[in-house]
Amino acid sequence: MEPGVFRGPRRRLVSQPAQQTERPPPLPEPAASTSLGRSEFLQFLGASTTLAFFAAQQPRFARARTGAPSDPELLPNSLSCGGLTLKNPKYIGGGVQAEVYSASVPGTGLVALKLSRTNDDYAQGTFAREKQIMKLLQDNKVPNVVRCLGSGQVSTRDGPRCGLVLSPCTPFARNISVKTGCGLPQATEAQEAYRMEQLMGTAVRVLESGVAGVDVQVLQPQGAPDLTWIDFTEAALLKSEKGKLAVEGPAIICPEYEKRYRSAKDAVIGYATEVFLTVPPSSRNAAVEALTEELQTLAKERKRGVGKTFQDVWAKLPWRCSSFAQQRLEYYASAASGDWAAV
Ligand SMILES: Nc1ncnc2c1ncn2[C@@H]1O[C@H](COP(=O)(O)OP(=O)(O)O)[C@@H](O)[C@H]1O
Ligand SMILES: [Mg+2]
Repeated sequence: MEPGVFRGPRRRLVSQPAQQTERPPPLPEPAASTSLGRSEFLQFLGASTTLAFFAAQQPRFARARTGAPSDPELLPNSLSCGGLTLKNPKYIGGGVQAEVYSASVPGTGLVALKLSRTNDDYAQGTFAREKQIMKLLQDNKVPNVVRCLGSGQVSTRDGPRCGLVLSPCTPFARNISVKTGCGLPQATEAQEAYRMEQLMGTAVRVLESGVAGVDVQVLQPQGAPDLTWIDFTEAALLKSEKGKLAVEGPAIICPEYEKRYRSAKDAVIGYATEVFLTVPPSSRNAAVEALTEELQTLAKERKRGVGKTFQDVWAKLPWRCSSFAQQRLEYYASAASGDWAAV
């Protein structure tokens, strides 16, 4: 059975006077629900996240971090990683775990080389886990996610390091995250709607694959609307165990994110909250529209993923959109998270 179409009130034309909207038909109860309450999101937003939220609203915080390489001579001009030959590496950015270089691979083009800062068991485990998550997302055909083309040890002036060869590589991109800002809203409404379609489409599909991102980071290249989700180091993995969903975190958990791995529900709430905070307030209507479309499509699909029962999370966020848009979002979020066919 296929889910039906939302038969709520008609969308009011701008020229029509406002009138009391009818409620949509009652929904059957989904078979399994996350029973997430709206207040849980607000409780979840600890002081650090709230501060980061305010920072995210300030355009001056929205520039990509650059920094400097640990050693300007770290890499030779030609190197190999995972059977690939990389030429002309140039430092493009760094995080807590890694430093990242752009490089060219003959026949493939520009790639990003993510290099661990150390070469111990922890670094190897972290990189192997991130590679596994990227593969999971690729196997599930999640759009706009960075792909791993190869991995292995890289010889550097500082000894061997772990490496991941990633594509696409977008060196001068804005970094969209709770900490760095929401990127650059696009010039026209249609372009911004497209950016939100990309952001929300990937957000929903990442969750569907059983990945609840922690420290979500999305690259927005300058002058191009296409986004790329990167850095799954901290991501929580949802796993189905004996009919229940368990959560698996990285080997070492950063204290800031401790409560994100307590349960699958905590992981999902945290992830959805981060996604919400990367949407500029002026783009919330476009984000809700994009979410609704994606959830409607998802609800019709036969093969569903580990994160299915949590897809109602998107309707619990404080979007403050019109009641029509909110009701439509709730309708399709329930359809996407339940086992029933919406009529
Ligand atoms: N595919 C890529 N294209 C362009 N820049 C990238 C890419 N991957 C990472 N970077 C840059 O490198 C930085 C660090 O990478 P990241 O994966 O976040 O490392 P960490 O796990 O240490 O946080 C990012 O913030 C971004 O600026
Ligand atoms: Mg990072």
